[in-house]
Amino acid sequence: MQLAEDISKGILGAGRASDPCVMVIFGASGDLTKRKLIPALYNLAKDNLLSKDFALVGFARNELSSEQFRDEIGKEIGEFATTTIDPELWSWFSSRIYYLSGDFSAPSAYQELVELLAKIDKEHGTRGNYFYYLATAPSFFGPIVTQLGAAGLVSEDHCWRRVIIEKPFGHDYESAIALNKEIRKVLEEKQIYRIDHYLGKETVQNILVFRFANGIFEPIWNRRYIDHVQITVAETVGVEQRGTYYEKAGTLRDMVPNHIFQLISLTAMEPPVSFDADVVRDEQAKILKALSPMTDEEVLTRTVRGQYGEGAEGAHRVPGYRSEPYVAADSRTETFVAMKLFIDNWRWADVPFYLRTGKRLPQRSTRIVIQFKRAPFVLFRKTAVDKLEPNRLILHLQPDEGIKLSFGAKIPGPVVQIGEVNMNFNYTDYFNATPQTGYERLLYDCMLGDATLFQRSDMVETAWHVVAPILDVWEALPPRRFPNYAAGSWGPHEADEMLTKDHRHWSND
Ligand code: BG6
Repeated sequence: MQLAEDISKGILGAGRASDPCVMVIFGASGDLTKRKLIPALYNLAKDNLLSKDFALVGFARNELSSEQFRDEIGKEIGEFATTTIDPELWSWFSSRIYYLSGDFSAPSAYQELVELLAKIDKEHGTRGNYFYYLATAPSFFGPIVTQLGAAGLVSEDHCWRRVIIEKPFGHDYESAIALNKEIRKVLEEKQIYRIDHYLGKETVQNILVFRFANGIFEPIWNRRYIDHVQITVAETVGVEQRGTYYEKAGTLRDMVPNHIFQLISLTAMEPPVSFDADVVRDEQAKILKALSPMTDEEVLTRTVRGQYGEGAEGAHRVPGYRSEPYVAADSRTETFVAMKLFIDNWRWADVPFYLRTGKRLPQRSTRIVIQFKRAPFVLFRKTAVDKLEPNRLILHLQPDEGIKLSFGAKIPGPVVQIGEVNMNFNYTDYFNATPQTGYERLLYDCMLGDATLFQRSDMVETAWHVVAPILDVWEALPPRRFPNYAAGSWGPHEADEMLTKDHRHWSND
């Protein structure tokens, strides 16, 4: 009962405007601000979900005045907005944008910030409520929080103060623990919002609604009926201009302990008793804790890494990873990962979760495939059990958002033959929602103080703990033949073999 109420109120959105507040973006000159954050705030304003007493401060090293920053953003909003810009609303919004240039580690810059925020509080009635969005290089996360603390900018006295931290949160288990320790010297856990943009996606949020607002799936959502689960996050793009970051990160760090583990935990978690932030996150954390870290031997047999070589994207030839900008000519960084994981609990014991993700694959597609067990016994003449396709439920998260259920049906005719057919639901056929950036919900929730869709410290640390043995073994045993897949293919053949050995195959359709 409580859950149903929470779903109708919480998950679908309560719809009240956020509290009066100021958002300070550190690293405001970067792409994220103009491409996502400003368009998302504009969409919230358009939907009356942003307080009338809202203001924004961009903070970065570039020397700019507030007017110049406003002008720049104003010129670009047309390109990045997901909706047509209403000049009146934009003029209201842009009159609340400020800019401060400064060095992230200089205490004097934070004194200027204190003064600017006090002035904004007076002019815009923002009541001392501030949230800081750290869209900087990760090496600044700790120092910025420390400086905010020293300047008294995170103390909550009749107001709230929150910090949103972008990924990557640490680059391994130890550094994630160290970063948590560093920021916890200044902030309480409830002030920290570790963001994972996958949780801002409608279709990712819909996993919970699909599972827990419908009665028919939960009884079969377990090892008794499910043969295995596949999670694919495939991208057609290469590393683009992000070689410097990617060379250090690689696909495993970039995608697995964050985005993909979010998808696993939402797919596999037990029903929470409410949608309170900690109740939901407790259930997610239990799944992460049940993902037992692999032994060295298991890393060798249950993981596959790859790097793209030259190939094609559609009709165009594209270079291999080693020829991309800012990438070493003999790079050993992986651009593809596949692995088999198990969740050690009663619901999922022995059910493999196969994951794969990579750059320069043939389609952009993020999907979760739930493959059910085959029918145990076939009554139909001349139909072998192994010829029957098992039922598959596919949650397409992007780009074609929808849900598909496949099942066997009789092909019309005097001879009994069974074919596979699909029941399809496409979001676009049913809901006429304005396109969003994916950051609206996350910013809105932070302004309301709802951390459900953000990562708690234990979740981040546990996720790194699970991938730690893989990082260690891969580092100790460098890949022998990189590049090992052509751009535009589905990754190294070992990824297919991993499933073939288990008498299964990836679902690519
Ligand atoms: C980012 C990764 O977090 O997610 C990128 O750093 C990746 O490498 C991106 O391309 C994928 O996000 P989306 O929303 O396009 O699936």
